[in-house]
Amino acid sequence: MSIISQSPNLSPEYACEIAREFYGLKVTADLLPSERDQNFRLRTDDGREFVLKIANGEEDRSFLEAQNQAMARLQARQVTYCPELIQTHSGDDLFEVRANGSAYCARLMTWLPGEVLSRCKWQDPDVLRHLGTCVAEVDSVLKGLDHSALHRSDFPWDLSNAPVVIDRHIDKVEDSKMRSHIGEVQSIFAQYVAPRLADLERSVIHNDANDQNVIVQRTTMVKPHVVGLIDFGDMVHSYTVSGLAIAVAYAMLDKPDPLMAATRVVEGYQAVRPLSDDELAVVFPMACARLAVSACMAAFQQRLRPDDPYLSVSQQPIQRTLHHLLDVHPRFAEATFRNACGLPPNPTAVAVGHWLLENQDVVSPIMPFDLRTVSPAILDLSPCNADLPVGRDCEDSLGDLVAKAMSRSTIDVAIGRYDEVRLIYTDDAFGGCCPTDERRTIHLGMDFFVEANTPVHAPLAGVVHAFADRAHAQDYGPTIVLRHEVDDLVFYTLYGHLSRESLQEIEVGQSIKNGQPFATVGTSAENGGWHPHLHLQVITDLLELDDSFPGVCRASQREVWTSFCPDPNRLVGIPATVFPEQRASSDATLATRRKFVGRNVRTGYDRPLQMIRGLDQYLYDDTGRMYLDAFNNVPHVGHSHPKVVEAADRQMRLLNTNTRYLHGNLGDYVERLTSTLPDALSVCYLVNSASEANELALRLVLAHTGRREMIVLEHAYHGNTTSLIDISPYKHDSQGGTGAPNWVHTVPIPDTYRGLYRRDVPDAGPKFAEFVADAIDRAGGAIGGFIAESCPSVGGQIILPQGYLAAAYAHVRAAGGLCIADEVQTGYGRIGSHFYAFESQAVTPDIVVLGKPIGNGHPVAAVITTPDIASSFDNGMEFFSTFGGNTVSCAVGLAVLEIVEDERLQAHALRVGNHLLEGLNALADGHAVVGDVRGAGLFLGVELVRNHDTLEPAVDEADFVINRMAERGILIGTDGPMHNVLKIRPPMPFSRGNADHLLATLDDVLSTLPDNYQT
Ligand SMILES: Cc1ncc(COP(=O)(O)O)c(C=O)c1O
Repeated sequence: MSIISQSPNLSPEYACEIAREFYGLKVTADLLPSERDQNFRLRTDDGREFVLKIANGEEDRSFLEAQNQAMARLQARQVTYCPELIQTHSGDDLFEVRANGSAYCARLMTWLPGEVLSRCKWQDPDVLRHLGTCVAEVDSVLKGLDHSALHRSDFPWDLSNAPVVIDRHIDKVEDSKMRSHIGEVQSIFAQYVAPRLADLERSVIHNDANDQNVIVQRTTMVKPHVVGLIDFGDMVHSYTVSGLAIAVAYAMLDKPDPLMAATRVVEGYQAVRPLSDDELAVVFPMACARLAVSACMAAFQQRLRPDDPYLSVSQQPIQRTLHHLLDVHPRFAEATFRNACGLPPNPTAVAVGHWLLENQDVVSPIMPFDLRTVSPAILDLSPCNADLPVGRDCEDSLGDLVAKAMSRSTIDVAIGRYDEVRLIYTDDAFGGCCPTDERRTIHLGMDFFVEANTPVHAPLAGVVHAFADRAHAQDYGPTIVLRHEVDDLVFYTLYGHLSRESLQEIEVGQSIKNGQPFATVGTSAENGGWHPHLHLQVITDLLELDDSFPGVCRASQREVWTSFCPDPNRLVGIPATVFPEQRASSDATLATRRKFVGRNVRTGYDRPLQMIRGLDQYLYDDTGRMYLDAFNNVPHVGHSHPKVVEAADRQMRLLNTNTRYLHGNLGDYVERLTSTLPDALSVCYLVNSASEANELALRLVLAHTGRREMIVLEHAYHGNTTSLIDISPYKHDSQGGTGAPNWVHTVPIPDTYRGLYRRDVPDAGPKFAEFVADAIDRAGGAIGGFIAESCPSVGGQIILPQGYLAAAYAHVRAAGGLCIADEVQTGYGRIGSHFYAFESQAVTPDIVVLGKPIGNGHPVAAVITTPDIASSFDNGMEFFSTFGGNTVSCAVGLAVLEIVEDERLQAHALRVGNHLLEGLNALADGHAVVGDVRGAGLFLGVELVRNHDTLEPAVDEADFVINRMAERGILIGTDGPMHNVLKIRPPMPFSRGNADHLLATLDDVLSTLPDNYQT
């Protein structure tokens, strides 16, 4: 029977009838969206699901048979993530149904549960790798298949036809910018793909792994993995690699770093089906061509269906992405893919490297002296050099650094290293638009700091390839690129920061002899503003960039750029022993740590960060990436605050000794410290950590009351010693813990979001305090003391309800107990409204414990109590802490207090904290996963929940958020008993601008979570 060219128009009832008649299935049917065919989702009562596909009347039956053969073949090879064909009663996998007087081909296959990849707003490297693997597996299985219907000579979606399709339809693309992008893609295809086509393997491929055809499920609530590759309707016999190129094309759409996304797909593919050199070279241009074809086809279809808005909407991601892709040189993409596949990124570089090693004797010295025989000073321009400030001031220090280095050397030259991490490139040209975006930090050349006007000699014979005066601040200034041809190899040397005079007589094409002085080193006024030096770079592929070839690259592309730019020392010949060893990579540091440090000393974040520098509220990792620190409260007045550093340094050089000798620092410090506390708290003990301080607080309780019984809050943490684990339910009640000992009585944490009494309950504070009274009763009426953080932190950044501490303290004191305020997290103005958080509860504790922030990272902690309690403790036994109250610690402690006051950090915390709180509350309105926003000043918590009624904690989501924030350069943490509270607790200089940056980034990250949370 002939099939009439017509769209099927079956009702769901009819679909159910077909299922019953041909398969004996009792189902319900829902129509699925489809452009040409009619597809129904069928569900049986017992939960089985299928897709009934009714082909368009125009569809060629033999093509459907070929698709079925492909699916059967995949099924036979146990490829579980493609739909499985179901045979009818009579054993057919393709049959005809009649409707509206016509006949249509129908098939039934399994339904793959999940969601389409395009709906996952965050696609992690693993899911992209997995996608590549699936495409390679499917196409490898299909390789053995052939069918005449799959040789579709003018099929527009066959990438072999891309140039024809683009030619045919480019004029229909209305947007002129898009048209010009497509034109560029067309020439890239002609240049990089066309000449290789004859050498590419051909086979049957799936040919449509676009993100609508890839089904994923989430392992945790957030992490997707591929469970399906569907739709065999674009299958074709073509270049095998185009199957990968299509997956890559869609994986790149709207990604912040499309090349990185593409690389992950290639990596996964390569693991199953290793790619040839030619295939690796064409993947990227082919992927761009696929996007161009899609844009052209959409323009064509738009002409046919002018009222279909979907056509132009679906093209927006392509428009947004294509122009970014055109910034990526196809050979750079090729090198990136090769690198990811474990191949040399740029094979020419390997050959050039060998040549240089073997031909040292023909290379002439670049400087007027031969650095192979005289040892120059080697500079450290990395962030590890404490003499090199971070930020714009660094330029001024370069000269001093060079002069100092030269004074230790026999010749007047100081070398800046190749492949060094540097923070000195502060101009906008080196960075992204956002301050925590990855910047270009890796130096690709070698610097020779010498006097201006020093002659520069050609190391080898060459020809002037390009020259320019790149006058922008921090650029190369006058620059010359020489081209060298040796044996069969071509490579380039680039000379930056020359004098303007060097460019006056020079011409492109001019020959330069080996050893010829052809330029001189420029002054600061002409060389881009740098201290005079020559930047020498060896380049094995100029990527058409010529004099604008970068001298500094992003760390994430380091391996690829350094392969294009081998170490210039191969030309210069400074013995390797002259270079001091550099810091270990984070992988090496991690390996050493794993070997020698206990495993339960944990690192934060999925990818451990190696920090090497800190300043104010910023940290810098070993790649020079800057992070906004919104998590660490220990550097209270800012990382490496110069006044703290100066105080420690000065005192360290004078004297550091203990409290057995008199020293003014101790008195100055404790006098100032106690002046911040209520008058009653006037006796101070200095120790080294908050754990030591809380230990001491317990001893004071015992000495004063003669009783050991303590009341503690559920989920509290007070330190790492044996007794403190005993009073820390956060530890003893969780993994590895053995519960509370009999002298410890735990009371519910006054959490007004999750607890028994909520915010709308009147007198929630005193009501929660009743649990303290109950605990006293359980302890027999007498108690040693009560310890509580004035704002519980690990308990989930809790703000105690008003009246809680007053009522709790009253119960405790009535039972003869003492009240300890653990202010380790909250002291020194953090909560903004008060210097200490207990003040916000209008109480005066008997003992206050301080730690963490009070030494700004130097180990200082303190216990402050009343003279009465101190005198009970003074029972004849000496109290001595070797380092507690040492002269350096006191100098540091005093400096911190002065800074808090001088810089008015408490008022600042209140202002910025309120702004942040307001912004977080606004985020809560837009993101259902945000259950609660709470805090005060710069002590804030955002609790994530999956359901606002049940308060099911969104634990995976919280972990997801902090890791994505870290990837975006913002450090926050999680806490709370279920680890579902985002903890924001930055160094106090954290600014309003930082807050806005955090809020915008958090908004973005929360938007990438699946949107199925219930309010
Ligand atoms: C509230 C509280 N008390 C005490 C400590 C113990 O401090 P350290 O680790 O400095 O001994 C901590 C540490 O996180 C803390 O959060």
